[in-house]
This record gives sequence, C-alpha cells and structure tokens, in this order.
Amino acid sequence: MKNNTYLYAIAICLALLTGDPARGYAQRKSGPLDLKINAIVKKMTLEEKIDMLHGNALFSSAGVPRLAIPELTCDDGPLGVREEVLRFDWKSANWTTDSATFLPNGSAIAATWNPVMANKYGIVLGEEANARKKIVMLAPAFNICRMPLCGRTYEYYSEDPYLNGQLAVQAVKGIQSQHVAACVKHYAVNNQEINRSTVNAVVDERTLREIYLPAFKAAIQQGDAWSIMSAYNKVNGYWCSENDILLNQILKKEWGFKGAVISDWGGVHHTLAAANAGLDLEMGSSGPYDQWYFAKPLLAAVKAGKVTEKVIDDKVRRILWLMYHTSLSENHPNGSIATPAHDKAAYDIASESIVLLKNDQHLLPLNTKAVKSIAVIGDNATKTFALGGYGAGVKVKHEITALAGIKAKLGGAVEVKFAQGYQAASLGRRGTSEDSNKPDQALIDQAVALAKTTDVAILCIGSNREFESEGRDRKNLELPFGEQALVSAVTAANPNTIVVVMAGAPYDLNEINKTNHTIIWSWFNGSEAGTALADVLTGTVNPSGKMPFTFPVSLKDSPAFALNTYPGENLTANYAEGILVGYRWYDTKKIDPLYCFGYGLSYTEFAFSNLKLNNKSYREGDKIMASINVKNTGSISGKETVQLYIGKLNSAVPRAEKELRSFKKILIAPSQTAVVSLSVAVHDLAYFDDSTKKWVVEKGNYKIFAGSSSKDIRQVATFSVHN
Ligand code: BGC
Repeated sequence: MKNNTYLYAIAICLALLTGDPARGYAQRKSGPLDLKINAIVKKMTLEEKIDMLHGNALFSSAGVPRLAIPELTCDDGPLGVREEVLRFDWKSANWTTDSATFLPNGSAIAATWNPVMANKYGIVLGEEANARKKIVMLAPAFNICRMPLCGRTYEYYSEDPYLNGQLAVQAVKGIQSQHVAACVKHYAVNNQEINRSTVNAVVDERTLREIYLPAFKAAIQQGDAWSIMSAYNKVNGYWCSENDILLNQILKKEWGFKGAVISDWGGVHHTLAAANAGLDLEMGSSGPYDQWYFAKPLLAAVKAGKVTEKVIDDKVRRILWLMYHTSLSENHPNGSIATPAHDKAAYDIASESIVLLKNDQHLLPLNTKAVKSIAVIGDNATKTFALGGYGAGVKVKHEITALAGIKAKLGGAVEVKFAQGYQAASLGRRGTSEDSNKPDQALIDQAVALAKTTDVAILCIGSNREFESEGRDRKNLELPFGEQALVSAVTAANPNTIVVVMAGAPYDLNEINKTNHTIIWSWFNGSEAGTALADVLTGTVNPSGKMPFTFPVSLKDSPAFALNTYPGENLTANYAEGILVGYRWYDTKKIDPLYCFGYGLSYTEFAFSNLKLNNKSYREGDKIMASINVKNTGSISGKETVQLYIGKLNSAVPRAEKELRSFKKILIAPSQTAVVSLSVAVHDLAYFDDSTKKWVVEKGNYKIFAGSSSKDIRQVATFSVHN
C-alpha cells in the first residue's frame, strides 16, 4: 500500500516535471466510464476529434454522427435559460416555446444566505435546460465582488469566498441533478468589466488561493461541476484561456477536475498556448468556424508536432465525460419549462432574498387594516428586469412587477395609485451611464401631489439591467435617473414613505439612510419579484435577506479605490489590497461601512446566548463544533442567519480581523429558542504560505465571533490550536 502511494507520488512529480499537459489525466482514478470513453476515442479520426473542440454555431459544437456522439448544446444562464437565438446569429429565433422562468439574480441568491435556495435555483435551471434540449448551462456565475461598480456584480453572488462556495456547490448540484452540466464561470479573477478582455489582474498566490479560487474549488470538488468557463481577463500575465497554472496545474491536476474547460465567448487568443495550457473547447470566436484557433490551425499544429495527439485526446475525453453525464446519460429527464412549480421556486428565493435595511418606526409590515390608500411611485414599480443591457437575459412567460404584486395583494381593500416619479434613461445595450441622473421635475411634482393624498407612499427606485450590465462598469455609486431628488421630495410630502431599492450591487444610500425611516432592498428578483415584495411589505413573509456585500459610505473607502488600483494602469490591475477584500478590508482597517456584509433586519428580534465550543483546544485534523442559542424574542416567526467568523490572534502573517467560516439560516417560532450547531474544520483556518506554497494552520489562539451580521457580533469565544 505504502509502495503504491510512493509510486503514485513519483508519477505525479514526473508528470509535473515533464510538463506534459495530458499527464494530468493519468492521475485521475480510472473507472468503467473512462474505459468506455477511451474505447470511443480510439475509434475517432484526428479530424473528428478536432471538430469536437470548437464551436460549430453560436451555442454548440460538433458531435460525431458516425459514432452516435451528439452535438454539445449550451445556453446562458445565469438568470434563466436564454431564449433560442438563430444558429449563426444573436437574433431571436422567434420560437414560441422558449419562454422561461426568470430566476433571481446572483446577488439575490447570495442574500438568501440559504444553500437550499441555491439548490432550488439549480433544479429549475436544469429542468428548463432539458425542456430546451440544452446540455450545458452557462451558470452559475460567482466571481468575488471585489469592487462595487463592476457591471456584473448583480450576477456574482458576494464578496466572500465561503458564502460563494456554499451557494455555488448547491447551484451546481441542483443543475446537474437534472443531467445538465453546470458551466461555472468565469474562472478566474474576473472582477471588472472595463477592459475585461485585455486587463491583466496581478494577484499574489496567497490572495488567489484564499480569496479568488476557493468557490471554484468547492464547485469542482464538492459540487462536481462537469464544466467551467475560462474568463476573458489575464491573470498574472496569461489570458485565462491559456493559463497553464490556472487550468492544467490547479484545476485539472490539483483539484482533479475531470470535465471540460470551455472558453468565454471570443476569449481565445492563440492556438498553441490555449491548447497546451488546458483549454478544451473554444466558443464564440469570430470568422469562419473552420478557421478558429481550435479548428484547422489546431489540426495543423498537431500534424506539425506542436500539440500532441495525447493532448487532443484528453480534451475529447473531457467533453465525452461531460456528455456521458448529460446527453448520453441513462434516464435523461425530459424537463419542463415555466411551470407553476418553477414560479414557486422563483418566489421562494425572492422572498428570502429581500433585505430589510431600516424599519425605525415599525411602519412595516403594513397595517393593512388601518392603511386605506397607497401611492406606489417610481419607474421601477412597473419595470421588468428579465432583459436589458448587454448580458444574457430571459424571455419570460411572466414577470410580476412591484405595482402588479402590490395591487394583487392589496387591491380592493386598499386604494393603490401609481405615479411614475422618474423615467429611467434608455442606455441601450452598450450605452453609458453618463447623463442618466437628471431629475424630471414634472414627474416629481405629480408624484408629490399623489403622495400627499395617500396614507402611505412606496417608492420603487434603483437601477435596471441596462444600468448594471455586462461589458461596462458603473461610473460611481450614485443612484441614477434623478431618484435622490424624487425620494427627498416624496419623503417631505408623506411621512409614511417606504423606500424600496431594486438593484443588484451597492449604491450610495447615505442620504436616504439619513432621511428615511423605512428602507427595503429588493433585487432583479425574477418572475415573482412583485409577489414576494408585496408579501414582505404586508408581513406574509418576514424578511430574512442579509447583504452579500458591503455598502461603503464612500467609494474611496473601498479597497480598490483607496489604493487606486481600479481599473488599473496600462491594462494592469494590481490587486494591492491582497486578501483584504470586502468586509475583511473594512474590519481590519476600522472603516465603518454604511451597511456591512451580512446585514439585514427582521420584523422580529433574535437574542443570541450561550456560545459553546466542544473543546478549548484543537489539533489540525479536528472539527470545531460550536453551538449557540438563538431566541426569537418577538411575536411572529422569523428566520435568522447565524454567521460564524473566526480571527487569529497575534498572527505571524497579515490577516483579516475575522473571516466567515460557517453560517446557518433557521426558522424560529415566537418565544422559541433554537440551538444552532455549526462546525468548522480546523484545517480550513489555514493561510496559504506564498514562500513554501503550503497551507499552514497557525498554532496559538483564535477568536470565534457569532453574529447577526459581520458587525453585529453577539457572542465571542476563544480557542487554541496546538500540535
Ligand atoms: C459572457 C458569458 C456568456 C457568453 C455567452 C459572454 O460575453 O461573458 O457569461 O456565457 O457571453 O453568451
């Protein structure tokens, strides 16, 4: 046994030393499926293999009909299954059967702090993909929200690698439970849209390992994702599609990834570099398909001996591996699309994602017996978010707007009137956000006049999918479209004003936070957004969302701006803040945010007590078992998320004050106490030592913080780690 282990270790070292990219495959355990795949690959001509490695249309690559290998079909994600576009053109195919469920956006899913919701999301996506005969869903997307202006923040879950990982794993499992491959994206360090195809993100290895890679690692190793998308940007000098360290060394060799690496659309730049660095499938390039980097040029490179056939075989095997779990799998489900069950899942996610930011006068939940009239004000009250901007959207069967949701819930008993209040500027698919912040005084006057006549005013403001879009970053944190002026005027006119912000990323809410007593955050919250919002406003749902990212008081407080490293100089973004991303930065530098990571209120209150650990001292292989009592001290049931952070005292290396290591969301009935158990493996407390390239669990004392948010810490304990 021992001898075998040594031989295995020697084999790995040899593979690494010889630098043969195909060697990684040899390390993986071979099972019956590998043998079957090997047998198929043996029957294929080189030309047939090469055909499988590049797109043959916008969203597919070729199969081998002679061997009954089907085309590989994929579609976007992550908001739902994208409508059918023409085979060779982005224009709609005008199908009548592709209306789908619009699922809440990534930061909404993250705000649920509930992996069960991520799993529901995945199942819906998988079922709908099957109904559309797509075998790869280009989802979920979960890059770290490094800076608040990134155009894709709304897609990218959160600023924390652990939260991202826990959700990504369940999203992947949900999708793949339907025999559809998740394609997790965008690997890696894809944190800005400005210069997204050319920027070089310079990140030290410790930061890469501790912040930017863990969620991908979890999606691959715990979620068993069958595909991954390489990002557009460069990391440490190499494009992600030709980054040997990211693809061959880390993903395939270290993490044992057996699936396929798919390029982002148009993200391939060279034949040899990409082929030898571990990219498996080229998608979205321009020009004739047979001229793509992985088409004729790759065939020529193999014939010239610059890429070995072994490398090609490895790529083909990976694509077949994906197929044998999806289109070629047994009992492949037929799927279903836009069903009531899917609406219900979208509703469940949305209703757990809404964040109550302020409720100082207990105006919420609305007392529907006393309130006789409501003014719903704001363009976003009647707007839909399934489509817009440059990124992939969903052709929805239906999307309940805020106004429709409120009317359906209260209409009849309560008089619900609407005023537009502001008009979102049309920015187009590739527009800019300049000049999009002009108040429209006539619309404001109408809104004020209406607000004066009603018991309550509900202001629906925020952004939309044009304003937050793939392909561009926002210019600043300002609320757009003159919304601040509208909020100030309506708030002055009606003391019972509720502000509802619908957006996917942090904005400047300083003024609103000062002047308004009631603030709710909703998102691009899917097909049932309006229903979920109405249920939160009226108390049918007790809000339980928590912010997945920090809202800085000012942009200059956030790390990339404080250190002037965004968008980078000469196409180089130096990640000088290192591991201090998000709350890690604000905590450690003692900068107060406007709303901190993990923040969100409820209509009830929770008291934390009795944080207990199963030991005072642990060894590296141990598990820390923590328990804490959480009592619902109010009169209605509600969900609380216990957040467990850990910090090393007197660390030998720079560290964040504390880092999220576990969390649990639980439903607690009024006056009941739940004993919440959480566990953390001691080896997960390790830092990555850049000089030895090893994970190190520091000995010594640690502090464990149990909180309702990253700043609202209710219980603290200490423990130590020893030899
Ligand atoms: C995006 C990907 C998307 C692909 C195909 C790219 O521009 O970055 O997320 O999956 O297009 O639509």
